Parts: sequence; structure tokens; C-alpha cells
Amino acid sequence: MLEPGDRVLVAVSGGKDSLALWDLLLDLGYDADGLYLGLGIEDYSASSGGYARAFAERRGAHLRVVDLPADLGFDIPTGARAAKRAPCSACGLSKRHLFNAAALEGGYAAVATGHNLDDEVAVLYGNVLRWDLAYLGRQQPVLPGGDGFARKVKPLVRLGERETAAYCVLRGIDYVVEECPMAAGNRHLRYKEAMNTIEERSPGTKAAFYFGFLDRVAPLVEATAAEEREDLHPCPSCGSPTVAEVCAFCRLAERARA
Ligand code: AMP
Ligand code: FES
Ligand code: ZN
Repeated sequence: MLEPGDRVLVAVSGGKDSLALWDLLLDLGYDADGLYLGLGIEDYSASSGGYARAFAERRGAHLRVVDLPADLGFDIPTGARAAKRAPCSACGLSKRHLFNAAALEGGYAAVATGHNLDDEVAVLYGNVLRWDLAYLGRQQPVLPGGDGFARKVKPLVRLGERETAAYCVLRGIDYVVEECPMAAGNRHLRYKEAMNTIEERSPGTKAAFYFGFLDRVAPLVEATAAEEREDLHPCPSCGSPTVAEVCAFCRLAERARA
């Protein structure tokens, strides 16, 4: 995923996974900066940002902060309403865009996120239920950079969320425990619950589902994602790759500000 000594931008939410990831990348000798996005979600954003800042200070690491309300003129709840999207969809779109932009602008070798096995299994489950081949083609722990994309890596995909929580406890890392209030009851959480029910009765199912996908199915659907990349051109407003006239993030931001 990374070369020794790489400059990495770690997307940190203040939660257990991304703080564990930042901690271990620093210990492994990577030149790892953090990136925190203030999404403007009630008290949750203030509290999660506090954990990210406290960790950076304790480790003497550099944390970049992009505050959506202050720096971009809108927050996620407003963006979601304006774009008529579910909050988590507006949020995911904004995160992907801003991670990519920050990594390219800062000249990082890769952007790393804290997605764990439970996250990947829930996303895979959703993609399979809809047979979304384009999403399946892009559901990889490593996505190469180039043509307006930063390299993306998810180093924790082999670990369950209880393992990253245990790591934080053992390392004395304080993290935000509360869930995002906007995510309550969303599809992703329902898929996680469903997979937990199956895992309880048949331990090992999650790992078999996800790693079987990577070994046997991902190579078959890769081409779909590659074909999609061929239709991309730079957004005239921000330069990000898009298939639309103006990219979805610029459209959302413009509507939210209006
Ligand atoms: P989520 O989409 O909330 O499941 O988070 C997946 C990963 O995205 C986390 O492990 C972090 O690496 C990153 N992330 C989530 N929220 C933020 C945020 N507000 N700022 C920076 N990175 C984030
Ligand atoms: Fe994105 Fe809650 S963190 S909607
Ligand atoms: Zn754009």
C-alpha cells in the first residue's frame, strides 16, 4: 500500500479507526499528516474535532483542518437539503472530494482512511444487493492515483471494529465514542447489523465474504471501473475528474451557498 517513509495524508474523524491508523503509521516511520474535516454537524463535529486535535498535539503531529462552514460557506445538513440528498450521501460525496483535493494539493503519496473490515463488509453487502458493478469495481483497498485522482489506501481492512477499539484502549488513545447523529438508522448501519447477526451464528462469514470478493470477484469487475475512468474530464470549476458538466461537489456547494 505504501513505500517506506512515504508522505501520507491520514483522514482522521476523531473516531477509533482513523486515530489508530494515524498512530500506527507514525510508529512505523511514515511521514503522516492528519486531515480533519469539520462537517458542521451539531455538537458531534466540535467533539470529534477535539479528539483529533488532542491526538495531534500529544503525538506532535501535523493536523490539517478544513472547516466546511468557515472555509467553504456551508455545512453538511444544509448541503444535503439543498442537493436533495440523504445527509450521509452529501457527506460521503464531500469527504471523497475534499480528501482527494487536499492530498493532491499537498503533494502526498497517498490518502489513507480508517475503513475497517466491518465497514467494507457492509458496503460490499449493499453493492451486491444492488449488483452495482461500477461501485464493486471501485471497492478496493488500494486505488491507484493519476488523472486527477490521489492514490487511496485503506490499511485497516483486515481488522474488525472491536480490534481497532481494543488497540485504542491499550494505547491510551481517546476517541469520540458517539455516532454521528445524522447516520442514525441509515442503510449502512442496517447492513452492519444484518452482517453481525449472521457472523454471530457463523463466525468467519465476514472475512470469507470480503476476502473472497477481493480474490475471486474484484478482478472480474475491475474493467467496469476502468471504463468509467475513460469518460472523465476535469470539472471546469474545481478541476476534479467528473462525467457530468460540473462535478457533483461543486453543484452541491453552489446550491448550499445559495
Ligand atoms: P465513515 O465514512 O464515517 O465510516 O469514515 C470512514 C473513514 O473516513 C474514517 O475512518 C476516516 O478515515 C475518514 N473520515 C470520516 N469522517 C472524517 C472527517 N470528518 N474528517 C476526516 N476524515 C474523516
Ligand atoms: Fe457524514 Fe454523519 S459523518 S453524515
Ligand atoms: Zn467541481
